[in-house]
Amino acid sequence: MKNSPLEQQRAIQQTNDDAAISKYCAVSKGYYSDPFISLFVNTKEKRQPLINRGTYARVRAVQMLVERFLQSTKPYGKRQIINLGAGFDTLFFRLREKDVICKEDMFVELDFPQVTRMKRRIVRQHSALYSLLTKNTDTNSVQEVQDGLSCDIYKLIGVDLKQIESLSYLLEHICQLSADSPTLVISECVLTYIEPQNADRIIQYFSNSFSFISFILFELTFPTDPFGRQMVKNIEQRGFSLSSLSLYPSLQAQKERFTQFGYSKVDIKSMYTIYEDVLEVEEKRRIERLELLDELEEWRLLLQHYFLLYCLKANALQESEEDKIWNSFCFISKSCEEEYLS
Ligand SMILES: C[S@@+](CC[C@H](N)C(=O)[O-])C[C@H]1O[C@@H](n2cnc3c(N)ncnc32)[C@H](O)[C@@H]1O
Repeated sequence: MKNSPLEQQRAIQQTNDDAAISKYCAVSKGYYSDPFISLFVNTKEKRQPLINRGTYARVRAVQMLVERFLQSTKPYGKRQIINLGAGFDTLFFRLREKDVICKEDMFVELDFPQVTRMKRRIVRQHSALYSLLTKNTDTNSVQEVQDGLSCDIYKLIGVDLKQIESLSYLLEHICQLSADSPTLVISECVLTYIEPQNADRIIQYFSNSFSFISFILFELTFPTDPFGRQMVKNIEQRGFSLSSLSLYPSLQAQKERFTQFGYSKVDIKSMYTIYEDVLEVEEKRRIERLELLDELEEWRLLLQHYFLLYCLKANALQESEEDKIWNSFCFISKSCEEEYLS
């Protein structure tokens, strides 16, 4: 049975609870450290070892990419990070605690107003979160704005991302982002829930509006093989239609999508390749001892059906400078990805 648009929207917002619970479970089992996630969720639910390990891989890989971006763009002044559909993600607080984001930078979190209002309430309730908003900044003031919060280095704002005009207005006028500063957009399991024409407009909007832009996309892929078909069926049973998955059904198709929208350097890797070739060996040894995982074939298939795409367009820079940033941003993998590209 097809859900009404309002029911669909509610179901999409609830995917944030799922994501936060998965992170909480992985952190509670010791897969990685996140001192903040327990402030957003407290549950007795448990996740299978497969999900805990997958959550670790995804959180670690995204954080590595973000830190690489921040490191490689250090000489270029203020950096801007925009987390689309951020939900209860704690990335800002984790980076801020480590002083990886400095007072000149700007971190923007966007989600539906219903979600950002909940996040605002939680941030205000806990000094461990709230104090990081103004730590080492010039002004100590935090204001309430558009269903969220605003201070020198952080904006939390409620918006429906499909409304590109509102998105563009608030980034320019409320967040006062500069069109020329290094800007990183993160979209983790978000654009999949948006119809492809609108999702494409979002990708294109960033490429057209910012001269120095990177995009990180974490999503599902390969919906047509047996594992993918089952995955899609499970998701559709929850009332979602994932139309961009069928429009861009492979790593190659996702890569071409970003190239077509003006990103000059684009790389994409399955989470299988990232887990095998990129994540730190010592850490993997440690987390693989935490829980028994004997469904190794399912683990491999699961990782092959998720990917991380990252790209760069810095057309105001000289080609050699752009290459230098790209080389220090992107992951080098040992094995050949080609077999997964088609
Ligand atoms: C699966 S959750 C992921 C949350 C976070 N990115 C993470 O990885 O933990 C998807 C999030 O995207 C948000 N979202 C989806 N479509 C959106 C839209 N059109 N406008 C604003 N937020 C949206 C949902 O509300 C939800 O918080």
